[in-house]
Amino acid sequence: MSDATRPILVTGGAGQLASALAAGAGILRVGRPAFDFDKPETIEATFQAANPRLVVNAAAYTAVDAAEKDIEAAYRANRDGPAILARLCAAADIPLIHVSTDYVFDGTKPTPYVETDPVGPQGVYGASKLAGEQAVMASGAKAIILRTAWVYAATGKNFVRTMLTVGKTRDRLTVVGDQHGCPTTADDLADAIRSIIIRLDQGGWNPAYQGIFHAAGSGETTWHGLAVATFEEAARHGAKVPEVAPIATADWPTPVKRPANSRLDCSRLQQVFEVRMPHWRESLTRTVDTIFATAPP
Ligand SMILES: NC(=O)c1ccc[n+]([C@@H]2O[C@H](COP(=O)([O-])OP(=O)(O)OC[C@H]3O[C@@H](n4cnc5c(N)ncnc54)[C@H](OP(=O)(O)O)[C@@H]3O)[C@@H](O)[C@H]2O)c1
Repeated sequence: MSDATRPILVTGGAGQLASALAAGAGILRVGRPAFDFDKPETIEATFQAANPRLVVNAAAYTAVDAAEKDIEAAYRANRDGPAILARLCAAADIPLIHVSTDYVFDGTKPTPYVETDPVGPQGVYGASKLAGEQAVMASGAKAIILRTAWVYAATGKNFVRTMLTVGKTRDRLTVVGDQHGCPTTADDLADAIRSIIIRLDQGGWNPAYQGIFHAAGSGETTWHGLAVATFEEAARHGAKVPEVAPIATADWPTPVKRPANSRLDCSRLQQVFEVRMPHWRESLTRTVDTIFATAPP
């Protein structure tokens, strides 16, 4: 049993996941400039001032293509900062929930990835996040690492909002149709994290909780499938629906090659924490409804 009067420290400022987590009771959300992985002294100062009972690290350098030229900053935010945070958690003997990514994989596996599959990041972002996982695991902290994928929310910069914005002015879009993954809403991931926290608060730490868990939306689709479904939902709100044509990854060159297969098998999350992530299609309906109700594109 932990001391529930101490806060849960959530890093990540105004990021998608940190924002989705912020609403809960007892959450202390921190972000730049007060908490900045580029200024390592702010990490310990924030941690000591908060005296948390648990930390959720939702802060990360997430600009996948920009990371190729901003290598040091990516490693500071995705490896070095999380390593410091994890050592602080280890010293205070409190759990750390750290968030990682499907981009640790190369995407060549024909079936969904499980936690023990070999990794093979394709760029600096994936490599720096993988190094972060390894640093957290080496820290001695009670660490739960949640690898998620294709995260979006009703607010923020994400694929779904981009589609809705672009669709307003274009009659025809082309979207990559040969990358397969599991879209995940920040709200669903936040709910999963809250379920884990309740379990930790009520039952304390269990060695079975240590290590990596995949946590992404149930079901699967492609970016093209996600775009088409987004416009299906937007049509219910009277939005103009453009034609959406699938294209190959080769026809949409990016500085970093995206994995053809990003699908994550989340069975371990369900077995150990009894958390089942909602189906991506249902969550898309809810999120597009929220977008049109609160922050239309
Ligand atoms: N977005 C995705 O599709 C996706 C996919 C797989 C995994 N993930 C992982 O999921 C987690 C949450 O992602 P998200 O979608 O919520 O990302 P996000 O919206 O980009 O938010 C990340 C936050 O991290 C903060 N940050 C960046 N550099 C920092 C630094 N040097 N020091 C302190 N804070 C810093 C940013 O703060 P500011 O507000 O100051 O900019 C930003 O708000 C991350 O671990 C990410 O790697 C995301």
